[in-house]
This record gives sequence, C-alpha cells and structure tokens, in this order.
Amino acid sequence: MTASSPLLQDRPLDLDPERLPRHIAVIMDGNGRWAKQKGLPRIRGHQKGVDALKGLLRCCDDWGIPALTAYAFSTENWGRPLEEVEFLMTLFERVLRRELREMHEKNVQIRFVGNLGALPASLQAEIDRSMAETEQNTGIQFTVATNYGGQQEILDACRAIARLVQEGRLAPEEIDEAVMEKHLYTKGLSHPDLLIRTSGEMRISNFLLWQMAYAEIYVTSTLWPDFDRESLHQALLDFQGRHRRFGKL
Ligand code: FPP
Repeated sequence: MTASSPLLQDRPLDLDPERLPRHIAVIMDGNGRWAKQKGLPRIRGHQKGVDALKGLLRCCDDWGIPALTAYAFSTENWGRPLEEVEFLMTLFERVLRRELREMHEKNVQIRFVGNLGALPASLQAEIDRSMAETEQNTGIQFTVATNYGGQQEILDACRAIARLVQEGRLAPEEIDEAVMEKHLYTKGLSHPDLLIRTSGEMRISNFLLWQMAYAEIYVTSTLWPDFDRESLHQALLDFQGRHRRFGKL
C-alpha cells in the first residue's frame, strides 16, 4: 500500500517510530459487558470484538509493528454456557473463511497456538488451511491463541524436553532458555514487549506466561469492542513514556 493510499491508517506523528513495540499481545476483555450495556445479547459483543481485532491488526501493520498476538479463547473458556462456546467456535471458523484471502493478500502470516486438537474438526481444518497458506508470508505475524493456557504450554514443553532426556538425547545441564523456547507453541516468535488488556482487569489470566517475562503491561478501562485506533495510540504513547530496564540499573 502506498503512502498516499486513502486506506492507510497513518501512524500518529507523536509516536517515535524507533521505539514502537516489536510485538503486542492483547487480552480482548469486555465483549459481554459491552453488549450488556447496550441491552444486546453477549454474542453481539463478540461480533463487534472481531471488528476491533481487525482494526488493531490493520493499525499494527500500517504503523510498523511486526507482530500481534490475540487471546481469543482460553482453556478456561470451555466453562462458559455451551451456546456461547459453540457460537465462538463457529465465529472463529466463519471469520477465518471470510478474511483469509485479504490477510493473505496483505502478506499476513497467520499462526494459531494452543491445544488445537481439541477444537471442532471443521475449525481445525480452517486453521490448518490458513496457517499453510500464509506460512511463507513475510508481513506481520498474527498469532491467535485459541484453547490456549500458558501453564499447559509450559507443561507440554517440559514433557517434550523430559522425553529427550529420557532417550539420552539431551543432558539435564543442557536445558536452558533456548531449549525451552524451542518447545513452546510460540517457537520462533519474539516475546511481546507490550501487553494490552481491556476492560480494566489487572490480570495476566494464564496468557503467554513464559513469553511475558519483561512485557510492559497496559490496562485500559475501554471495553474491547470500543478499542480503536485512538486507543492503540494512547497505549503506545504510554509505552513510549516508560523506561525499560530488564532488571538492570
Ligand atoms: C472476552 O470478553 C472475549 C472473549 C472470550 C472472546 C474474544 C474473541 C473475539 C473478540 C473474536 C476473535 C475472533 C477471531 C477470529 C480471532 P468477555 O466475553 O469475557 O467479556 P466480559 O468479561 O465483559 O463478559
């Protein structure tokens, strides 16, 4: 897309292009509350939430942020009413089918992380197709955490590493951060520099526990469906105002 394109979401001039996060993670909270405030069924909040996520992906792409990871469904979300869970699964599948071509044309590399084998077969098929089709793309890395749990991810990695030790292919002393990284669902992806959580909750909620070690956390009271370009702008201004020390002085 050229700089003169009317579709390009120009980066606000008060943001320093040299100090943008390289990877944003987002906990999209507040869809249900948004719907309730408007007297609508919860599912309408999720539908609006998809639009907000599309807008965020677009802004990140246009503003030069190379990776975005969104928490779409946690391992705990199965505890919601069956009809809401079924709605979400169908929504993910429909959105993927509808948006894949455009994302591919925009060079987006799509990845899903989580316990994907437990998702409905038809959704798994769309996920496999979207990942295979966009695997070679070199644009923004868009990761969707679906049936994802951070503790489960770490346990899965530990089991895989333990098997290597048991088979004599790895010594316990050789287990370091790099070995761990290689066995995470997010293998090859940089760690998030910024976690954005909407709707005011001050929790990480089992999201990217290993990867979030040095992420800056930004919490806004805005409900997810209302999170727009200006909300991102504010989050980035806040991020750029921080002094990141990574434990050093
Ligand atoms: C949290 O709000 C939101 C979710 C559990 C679902 C998020 C999913 C989307 C926005 C759709 C993403 C689509 C794709 C294809 C990745 P909540 O229901 O917990 O809201 P509440 O806390 O107000 O009840």
